[in-house]
Amino acid sequence: MRFSKFFSKQAKKPSGLYGRFRMSKIFDKGNLEMNTYAKQILDINPEDNILEIGCGTGMLIKEISRELETGVIDGIDFSKTMVSIAIKNNRSNIKNGKVHIHNADFDKFPFQENIYDKIISINTIYFWENPDFTISKILKLLKPNGKLVIGFHIKEDMNKMDLDNSIFRLYTKEEVVILLGDTGKLENITIETKDSCSKCICCAIGERNKK
Ligand SMILES: C[S@@+](CC[C@H](N)C(=O)[O-])C[C@H]1O[C@@H](n2cnc3c(N)ncnc32)[C@H](O)[C@@H]1O
Repeated sequence: MRFSKFFSKQAKKPSGLYGRFRMSKIFDKGNLEMNTYAKQILDINPEDNILEIGCGTGMLIKEISRELETGVIDGIDFSKTMVSIAIKNNRSNIKNGKVHIHNADFDKFPFQENIYDKIISINTIYFWENPDFTISKILKLLKPNGKLVIGFHIKEDMNKMDLDNSIFRLYTKEEVVILLGDTGKLENITIETKDSCSKCICCAIGERNKK
């Protein structure tokens, strides 16, 4: 297998020793700035119920849970390897009920509808096999007026990396806005950007309408 295919598969669903020891470091270091930026945009209230889709090593969950009082955060990731690290990184808050982590495919997991004030997902949009289905499902889980933040890098920047196009689906900012807007259920859709050393950091933001 070519390295670009192997690496892309690991980025989509880390596994084995490479996933545990290499991808986890790449996520924690390489995605830190986007995670920090997106968390700031999420604008957490202490009573928020939050969901993170594709939580990886659970470091963002750890940071968000510091700001919650009565609120809780759920994380979901379909990689067993990532979930075991995320559980380790959030052990005390899992014990006290502030954090829940599920090992499952987001598209298939039976979440309750209308329960989240905020949903966040960082660097996962590239792997959504049926983006219209995934975004519709996200919007069913958000409460009316709930906020969605999706962190990503644009096609132009990602194309500089040696990634496998059959695994990574890349987007322009405009394509993400169209994807979110097509649902008819998100309002005030905007893209915030931050220049970073090699790739521009983008966060798509929207609010679920009241319908
Ligand atoms: C590139 S990593 C990003 C991890 C983390 N959000 C970060 O910024 O460091 C993508 C993560 O999403 C998870 N993932 C991808 N598709 C998923 C799906 N359909 N359901 C649950 N998790 C998914 C992968 O297992 C992986 O841990």
